[in-house]
Amino acid sequence: MVERYVVSIDQGTTSTRCILFDHRGRLVSVAQREHQQYFPRPGWVEHDAVEIWRNLQRVVPEALANAGIDPGQVAAIGIANQRETTVLWDPRTGAPLGRAIVWQDTRTGPMVEDLMDRPGEEFFLDRCGLPPSTYFSAPRIRWLFDNVEGLEQRAQAGEVLFGTIESWLIWNLTGGTEGGLHITDVTNASRTMLINIRTLTWDQELMEFFGVPRPMLPEIRSSAEIYAEARSVLPGVRITAALGDQQAALFGQTCFSPGEAKCTYGTGSFLLMNTGTDLVRSRHGLLTTVAYRIAPHPTVYALEGPIAVTGSLVQWFRDRLGLINSAPEIETLARTVEDNGGCYIVPAFSGLFAPHWRSDARGVIVGLTSYITKGHLARAVLEATGWQTREVVDAINADSGLALKQLKVDGGMTSDNLLMQFLADVLDVPVVRPMVAETVSLGAAYAAGLASGYWPDLEVLRRNWHRAAQWLPDMDPERREWEYENWQRAVERSLGWVR
Ligand code: G3P
Repeated sequence: MVERYVVSIDQGTTSTRCILFDHRGRLVSVAQREHQQYFPRPGWVEHDAVEIWRNLQRVVPEALANAGIDPGQVAAIGIANQRETTVLWDPRTGAPLGRAIVWQDTRTGPMVEDLMDRPGEEFFLDRCGLPPSTYFSAPRIRWLFDNVEGLEQRAQAGEVLFGTIESWLIWNLTGGTEGGLHITDVTNASRTMLINIRTLTWDQELMEFFGVPRPMLPEIRSSAEIYAEARSVLPGVRITAALGDQQAALFGQTCFSPGEAKCTYGTGSFLLMNTGTDLVRSRHGLLTTVAYRIAPHPTVYALEGPIAVTGSLVQWFRDRLGLINSAPEIETLARTVEDNGGCYIVPAFSGLFAPHWRSDARGVIVGLTSYITKGHLARAVLEATGWQTREVVDAINADSGLALKQLKVDGGMTSDNLLMQFLADVLDVPVVRPMVAETVSLGAAYAAGLASGYWPDLEVLRRNWHRAAQWLPDMDPERREWEYENWQRAVERSLGWVR
């Protein structure tokens, strides 16, 4: 019998990747292309949606060719994507109306401050589970309406479509101007600030608040169901899953039970804990978000703590300060010293996300003395990721009333052993990394494979998860708490810097 595979597309912040997985959840082939990052003004981050679509059109055939696999052997397509990034396009021409505004972009800062003042934070938390922040999509749509002449009127007349990246890609994959399917999934929709987090439908009050007309919004679907057959790239192959990339990683880490959590360490880091079919309203600065909905099963929710700057702090250390030549060198440099020498770096480059949600914060380095070397700074860079994770875990424990038992990790930074040990130390729980490190892609493949019958159930997927490495806590408790206090004092100093 001819072997079949699942095609998983991970459209991330920096690149578009296609990975093929086999029946045992093993990675068979990969192809990847980076896209350009546009920084037209301080705080602005943009992508070219057409470039991203072209990259997808290239990486899929490349991944098939690399492994000598025929399109007829593809069982299903699953998509995971960078979340919140906002694309508007004209359905008649298929052309984007300007560049996509990326999740890291802070141009809506003044508007968000204003939004907070009027109906107040509770108004938003109650409806969509999210605090007002530059992070989400709806303020960006409002900003575009306020800054691009005639756009709002065109949207009201049904001449403009909105989507996060998966919507844009599915629309193109299913025919584009020739009747492309305009849909999103519940996980991506839960990051727009436009849905009611209980009913998972577009919320009238929120749409009115942001002035977003219903005709521009996609239809909300499950994260895994048969959406449609692709009409281009892999014509005739069914597209059966779409999830926000962080939810995909939760799924790929097989965190299917309430209380199970993962953190993905990339440019930013995102810790999600499965809370089951219960919607947990955060009182400690976390997001209430949709984990996944695998049709016909009920929706599963999660609590999430997004951290805006982790790996990108290492990049900054490499590219802006030039203190290392490659990212992995940070570990070598940090190991030249015993500890941080009393130095802490709070990387609030674009404010602080969870659990603070302070757009007025900016980065600080504290504890500088003439004793501090670049080795101490390297330690402080790595430790910033550990302490930011600790803040999120504290919030998760407080919200859920349970203590996290272990943390599953994935993403580029998990190859740094010093950081992983530090994480276990400051969280005081085991930190474990799976064999398949590509958990975002794996999660999208799993969801697509479940919906298409390639895999029968969650249990089979669970059996595919194998531990590759584990770090156990090994820090004196007194030191842990004393250092954590120092970190918190450093955070205090970063708040309110922007006036
Ligand atoms: O919420 C933003 C997140 O989805 C971005 O993830 O991996 O594309 O940087 P990543």
